[in-house]
Amino acid sequence: TPPFLVLGIESSCDETAASVLRYTKEDDIEILSSIIASQDEEHAPFGGVVPEIAARAHMQKIDYIIEAAINDANIEYTDLAGIAATSGPGLIGGVISGLLAAKGLALSLGRPLLAVNHLEGHALSPRLAAPCAFPYLLLLVSGGHTQLLSVNGLGDYTRLGSTVDDAAGEAFDKSAKVMGLGFPGGPNVEKWAAKGDPNSIPLPRPFKGKDHADFSFAGLKTAVARAWEASDKSDIAKANICASFQNAVGDVMRERTLRAIAMFKSLHGELAKRFVVAGGVAANKALRARLTELCDTEGLSLLAPPLKFCTDNAAMIALAGAAKLAAGDIDDLDVAARPRWPL
Ligand code: KG4
Ligand code: ZN
Repeated sequence: TPPFLVLGIESSCDETAASVLRYTKEDDIEILSSIIASQDEEHAPFGGVVPEIAARAHMQKIDYIIEAAINDANIEYTDLAGIAATSGPGLIGGVISGLLAAKGLALSLGRPLLAVNHLEGHALSPRLAAPCAFPYLLLLVSGGHTQLLSVNGLGDYTRLGSTVDDAAGEAFDKSAKVMGLGFPGGPNVEKWAAKGDPNSIPLPRPFKGKDHADFSFAGLKTAVARAWEASDKSDIAKANICASFQNAVGDVMRERTLRAIAMFKSLHGELAKRFVVAGGVAANKALRARLTELCDTEGLSLLAPPLKFCTDNAAMIALAGAAKLAAGDIDDLDVAARPRWPL
């Protein structure tokens, strides 16, 4: 019975993370520690996340990161009521590293294992920053995900849209790579875009006019590569392509989100009031401005949690795990890692 402490472990992409969270009740939690080791440096030479490198880095760091989270929280392992770990979706080698560490701890401490869907962690992440009443519409845009979710309540999610190919952040990273802008690409594209003309280069708006809330970015990325090839590769060309690309992503995001808002409103009627944007791409000021405008016209209040809560972290995994534990929803020690696991 609450309050209790849960350890969360996250290793599904390129962040090795561990966190200790105190759970008193659904909207009364405290993060006692949240340690995150990024692998950006390991992957930068390749312009994107390399699965084999990620798996090895997780394996090397995981025990140390867990130890750091316990120490930082100033607790003993035996104070923990449960061990939560991401068990999918994600890069399988990394997921296995974290899940195995969690299983070892659960077994040796005699505490329940909580296998958490990484996307559920993201869905609940705004609640790490401040209480946020259900339901809310969540736009999750990061290097690994592009999702529109109706978060109806704990354990109750409706997926309204997702990408059929690349994630939004991946589109930024791949476009940046084509132009030699460095990794991660998003912040660099935003910087160059500020100096360019957003209407100078014609680029596609994938799924424009379609009556669903799914995304596609592959065609946009290819069009950027073609525009770059055809350009004189000057700084002006770079700025114009970045600005046009960012503008296209903004149009796409606005239209797809508008469809999802209609679905969200038909699910919840009067209760449909809150819109949350989360993930690394949400750092983009131009995109944020587009979403702010959209929420104003749609009568929704916009919430953008601090980035440290809505980019990959283990506190969100601890929170989702704690909610599972409170509901008595625990997992067997032989639970499998799942590379694909739609919410
Ligand atoms: O949530 P996040 O830190 O984690 C992963 O998914 O790993 O998101 C990282 C992504 C990268 O693709 C990065 O290029 C993108 O977020 N990103 C941005 C900006 N800052 C980070 N994209 C566009 N504009 C930005 N300012
Ligand atoms: Zn993630």
